[in-house]
Amino acid sequence: MANIPAHIVDEIMQTARIEEVIGEFVNLKRAGSNYKGLSPFTDERTPSFSVSPAKQIFKCFSSGKGGSVVTFLMEKEHFSYPEALKWLANKYGIVLPEEKPATAEELAAISEKESLFIINDYAKKYFADQMHDTEEGQNIGLSYFVERGFRPEIIKKFDLGYCPNKGDAFTQAAIGSGYKLEYLQTTGLVKSKDERNFDFFRGRVMFPIHSSSGRVLGFGGRTLISDKKVAKYFNSPESPIYHKSDILYGLYFAKGDIIKYDNCFLCEGYTDVISLHQSGLQNVVASSGTALTKEQIRLVRRFTQNITILYDGDSAGIKASFRGIDLILEEGMNVKVVLFPEGEDPDSYAKSHSSQELEEFVQSHSQDFVTFKTEILLKDSQNDPLKKAELIRDVVQSVSLIPDTITRNIYIQEVAQIFDISEQIIASEVTKKRAGNQGNTSLRPESKQSPQFQAPSESQATVALEKKPVDIYTFQEFSLIRVMVKYSVFAISTIHREENEEKEVETSVIELICHELAKDGLSFDYPLFHKIHEIFVEGLKEKTLFEPSFFLKNEDQELVKLISEIIDDKYELSPNWLAQHKIFTPGERDKIPQLIMDEIYHFKKSKIESRIKEIQIQLENLDPQDDEQFNVLLGEQVFLDRIKGTLARELNRIIH
Ligand code: CTP
Ligand code: MN
Repeated sequence: MANIPAHIVDEIMQTARIEEVIGEFVNLKRAGSNYKGLSPFTDERTPSFSVSPAKQIFKCFSSGKGGSVVTFLMEKEHFSYPEALKWLANKYGIVLPEEKPATAEELAAISEKESLFIINDYAKKYFADQMHDTEEGQNIGLSYFVERGFRPEIIKKFDLGYCPNKGDAFTQAAIGSGYKLEYLQTTGLVKSKDERNFDFFRGRVMFPIHSSSGRVLGFGGRTLISDKKVAKYFNSPESPIYHKSDILYGLYFAKGDIIKYDNCFLCEGYTDVISLHQSGLQNVVASSGTALTKEQIRLVRRFTQNITILYDGDSAGIKASFRGIDLILEEGMNVKVVLFPEGEDPDSYAKSHSSQELEEFVQSHSQDFVTFKTEILLKDSQNDPLKKAELIRDVVQSVSLIPDTITRNIYIQEVAQIFDISEQIIASEVTKKRAGNQGNTSLRPESKQSPQFQAPSESQATVALEKKPVDIYTFQEFSLIRVMVKYSVFAISTIHREENEEKEVETSVIELICHELAKDGLSFDYPLFHKIHEIFVEGLKEKTLFEPSFFLKNEDQELVKLISEIIDDKYELSPNWLAQHKIFTPGERDKIPQLIMDEIYHFKKSKIESRIKEIQIQLENLDPQDDEQFNVLLGEQVFLDRIKGTLARELNRIIH
């Protein structure tokens, strides 16, 4: 849907009452100035879900979720940002502007896709009716599923069906009902050869494949003939609505439980998903026999950060699947693995064991990926030291893909323990691999030019201090962004020197901080903080000071969550905004300026120190012949040391 204009977003955000909206989903009770209730995201018994009407934010302590009313709708209903806004507009009677009419081309594309969905829906019903209501369907299709142990309610739930073995029975019925042959061919349900049309899936039992919102994207059809020459499954061909690489079988039925249990089980086949479901394990999807793709992983990531892969005991593809594990790690998700006993797949295990046994088995056999990969590979390497070194490198490669520093370090410790090698060695291998993965290394000297020794000018120091975005923030970065958000519009008195005169000037906290950072060309390395800083800077260009609530309507829900945590924190000074009364309680008025100056000081100091550290590493790794670079680096270091020395004094002179 088209973008909603900013002024309408404002109107929606100002009109919507978070306690009212959440009240439609959660039974909320007043508790002081807040409301409390049971988390809609977990199974909790004691309420830890809290809504603040004053701040218009919510916080769920058991799931860690939090943010604005829009965040809530996106989390709870899995709306996109515009969908959530649209829902709110509808609830509060806010009229959205007419969407501009689609072009003829867009309309044609929409109507083609729509037609394909409608045909698939028709086919799904046709196959199910054939199976339940005809003699052939019951004797051949239904009895097959029943023999496999599928119960009637599960057969209905997954819309299983049967395509008659008559050649063109479905084609005739569909054309008779008015569906265009062209679209029937595009869905792959009908094949044509020499002017003759026939049913692609004839004589097969049918597994409709649903999108995450429940529409039928395509089908898998299993043959009932046990002949090695006949492909066991036929699947719908690629079409405008069926893209094999971004479909997960079962996601539609699994998503509720994936959210609830914050984990997604991943197996190989249609029948695995259905059997596990029948045994009560409903947070399960299948990659349908293909190698796992990034798109499939991202589908899961909308609902959870955790994937547990279920492997057949004799799965030849385990090693081939290591690539899949690496992809999951690269997406920043956690991956565990369960290996079923020799000769069993999830389907057969679920059939021959009770639900409870299944659950216990899965629980007790979940291994983290390092242990799993190591065990599998160790079997091959026996005691061959060369092979073992290869294996360590292999595991280290996987660890190096993990974006989160803390998680990565935990795995570094684990690998060090398993192989009985020092943590430093593993850590430095991981660092090397990461440098390799990203195709650049901070150890590389920056420039070979600059002929003579020269103290860098301020602007050179600026360039040197600019860094690549990072995946974890430092305490100083968080601490500064916190006061920027929280006290942005507070007034602060500063001393301004003009010629020989010192003048007291009142400015806002955010102007002061942005000015101080701009002066030294400093910014945030952590992308989210960087973004907030930029928004403030853009606002100042327009002479606008943003209050925290301004950020709550941002589309980026990670940003909204961060802001809501900042404004929710415990160390509240009373929020008397500059724009309002300029009244501070006595003690606090004195504290803010010092707090702000301390934060700026520590931020600058830590940036300078980390650059000095970098320079030292560069100096250690420098080619001894490279005098020029040596001089440049040393010059910069001297310069930075000097700034660091005067930093505290300079800053303290600004305020009084
Ligand atoms: N698959 C496929 N084409 C094939 C074989 C398999 O698309 N010729 C896909 C199907 O999605 C299948 C999955 O790979 O569900 C796993 O294959 P397999 O384990 O052979 O099938 P099962 O699902 O276990 O089916 P069954 O239990 O009926 O043998
Ligand atoms: Mn099977």
